[in-house]
Amino acid sequence: MKVLIIGMGYVGTTMGVVFANAGHEVTGLDIDEGKIDSLKKGKLYFYEPGLQEMLVNQMDHQRLSFTTDTKKAIENHDILFITVGTPPLENGNADLTYLKKVAQMIGRFKNREKTIIVKSTVPIGTTSKVEQWISEAGADSNPVNVAMNPEFLREGSALQDALYPDRIIIGSDNKTTLKTLHKLYQSFSCPILKTTAMAAETIKYASNAFLATKISFINEMAKLCDTLGVNIKDVSKGMGLDDRIGPHFLEPGLGYGGSCFPKDIKELLLTADTYQRPLHLLKEVEKINKNQSSYFIEKVKNSFDTLEGKRIAIFGLAFKSHTDDTRESVSFPIIDQLLEEKSNVVVHDPVVQLSKDWVGKGVQQSSDPYEAVKGCDAILICTNWPVYKELDWERVHQLVKQPYIFDGRNMLEAKKVKDLQFHYKGIGYS
Ligand code: UDX
Repeated sequence: MKVLIIGMGYVGTTMGVVFANAGHEVTGLDIDEGKIDSLKKGKLYFYEPGLQEMLVNQMDHQRLSFTTDTKKAIENHDILFITVGTPPLENGNADLTYLKKVAQMIGRFKNREKTIIVKSTVPIGTTSKVEQWISEAGADSNPVNVAMNPEFLREGSALQDALYPDRIIIGSDNKTTLKTLHKLYQSFSCPILKTTAMAAETIKYASNAFLATKISFINEMAKLCDTLGVNIKDVSKGMGLDDRIGPHFLEPGLGYGGSCFPKDIKELLLTADTYQRPLHLLKEVEKINKNQSSYFIEKVKNSFDTLEGKRIAIFGLAFKSHTDDTRESVSFPIIDQLLEEKSNVVVHDPVVQLSKDWVGKGVQQSSDPYEAVKGCDAILICTNWPVYKELDWERVHQLVKQPYIFDGRNMLEAKKVKDLQFHYKGIGYS
């Protein structure tokens, strides 16, 4: 099938490559000439494991091309995916500016019946607005069939998630549109759930909200375990062996970050409030998540008379490993709190470069973890980069001034580092 994907961000590009791989003829459209130039040359402009190779492969097979010509692209396609960003506004609501602009463009250049599929995460009820925006902007009176098809891609494993999804959700109030989408996904072996557009939108938010709830739940349990002297790793494992609970998303740490969970939780809370159906449980989930960095800092504070003048090494700036994304990364509020305590902060991250603002505040960065820990009083592990697990901790012990490790991701083996005479504290694990 011939497919146009509007918005060559992280989701759009990944889906474009995966649809091409499924045998469809895909065109990627974006107004950003820099992005399209790069993609036309077969160069992925962001990092996502495995995607670069498959992008080139699909281009070589002539199944994937890119353009900035909005009018021609819209005119020449009957199936259009919208994958533009919906970043949060100051008040927490999703910014629908890009989405509306795309809808208006479609309306303007629509020359025959079109199927429009919204893949961007949008507040519940938005898909029907897209239909309205297209109709309002259109001189053409041919029908426009709109559907919602949420994405569930994780950064760092987006390609695998897109190639082998657990489920595909397609939501539309039009039977023919549901059939078209089903045909598009027919080579995928997972269950395909057909539902209404509003239910599809809700499924996306409810899924992320539930996963966030699992994280905050296990973080609460980890704090209790700290008090009781119980190992949270055993608790997570024991709980996860129950099929009804499952082993995933039961890792305590510094809370969830990234470009999706925090934004989606806020948006869902606002939507529920708008309908006077407040989500009390989810409000607590968000509160627990926000407090997780303070809980961690308290642990550090309780181990010293004062943090003033102490040299603290921060391991990790990305919001999770295998990505260079720092959006809503907990490392930054932690650095902020340390600066408030007048500590000297030195950071290390295998891929993220500290911005000038932070350097201006006196934070140093070292490209070598051994260099970073020289003369420091404490090491705080904030991102679960495997490199930290693999460090020669005996060597680290010789380099530090005081042997304190605060492991915000429970990555290290407590016994191993304690045997090396480190003071070690994880979250619900020590
Ligand atoms: C998430 C969803 O998983 C994906 O389906 C959605 O489409 C976009 O948002 P992503 O933001 O890439 O994907 O990250 P994910 O791997 O899900 O982790 C989210 C956050 O939760 C990270 O900060 C991670 O460190 C944290 N997390 C995850 C935990 O603290 N504990 C866990 O057990 C799992």
